[in-house]
Amino acid sequence: MNKKNIIVSGIQPSGELHIGNYLGALKNFVKLQTEDYACIFFIADLHSMTINYDTKEKAKQTMDLVLDYLAAGLDPEKSTIYIQSQVPVCTELTWVFNTVTPVAELERMTQFKDKTQKHTQNINVGLLDYPVLMAADILINRGNVIPVGQDQFQHVELTRKIARYFNNRFGQTFEEPKEVITNTPKIMSLADPTKKMSKSHGPKSYIAINDSPETIANKMKKAVSTTEYDKAVYDFYSTLLEEFGSTENQKYFAAQFKEKDIKFSELKKALAEDIAEYFKPFREKRAKLEKDPQYVREILKTGAAKAEKRAQETMKEVRKKIGLLN
Ligand code: AMP
Ligand code: TRP
Repeated sequence: MNKKNIIVSGIQPSGELHIGNYLGALKNFVKLQTEDYACIFFIADLHSMTINYDTKEKAKQTMDLVLDYLAAGLDPEKSTIYIQSQVPVCTELTWVFNTVTPVAELERMTQFKDKTQKHTQNINVGLLDYPVLMAADILINRGNVIPVGQDQFQHVELTRKIARYFNNRFGQTFEEPKEVITNTPKIMSLADPTKKMSKSHGPKSYIAINDSPETIANKMKKAVSTTEYDKAVYDFYSTLLEEFGSTENQKYFAAQFKEKDIKFSELKKALAEDIAEYFKPFREKRAKLEKDPQYVREILKTGAAKAEKRAQETMKEVRKKIGLLN
């Protein structure tokens, strides 16, 4: 893998993937799989341990996310796809980065502050250290182009700082990575268009990319609407219509948007149908893959082996630079 630009990104296996994850991240992963880039995509299962979870669910959630990756179009011929915990050398690099990262930098992370407010019974060190693990994921792979949604910008920015702290202390080793975004880096919640769509707000607040057409229709029916002009609500629907709407529906509702006079029941019904149609090939491909776990396991095995090789090369250089006995 000698390509100059190296894409690295991951998603946590903590529930269903929603259209926010798709429009902010996964869609871009698929698009970036071109000859210009070496692509590395993983499932961030170690990250997902930082909030309470059911041990009986984690393996399934992990496999579900792999199916989502593949069904959405990640191609194991073009991308290295692996499970984070199966390449544990990234935790060794995390430890090294821990020794150059000021605690104050971690304490000021917006996501850390949000999560400590939300999970008051489990403010664990992992929650604080999470961005350092993310920096290790990126830099162990020598990633320089990082496709993420808006909520991860701050973590990529910190990754740049960690690269700098390391380089200053131990000599030039890591390039500073940059985030790349889609034009929809922050999709809002179905229930409240002033809040980000998030798995943690419950299934009524999002549409999962694997939802059936019936579920999509039901969720859309209950989604936010307004009788007066409300910019957040209008923006929310116009974004979804732009991304998922048929040309016909886009044209038809554009006029209503312009007049700020939307018939929401009509719009929501049309949009639900368009979203269901958009993800139809995805659902079909996913159902097929689900029947072939052996094939999926093989992809993960190959992916982990490739990632391990790459990671060990980086770690070898790091061990030398930090002066450990070898
Ligand atoms: P997570 O589920 O937190 O692992 O997020 C996976 C990816 O989806 C990250 O790149 C996030 O930035 C992105 N993402 C999560 N929620 C949204 C959202 N509501 N809109 C756009 N991108 C999102
Ligand atoms: N922290 C990211 C999230 O919650 C997931 C993630 C872990 C990631 N490591 C990464 C994303 C490295 C990009 C690069 O969405």
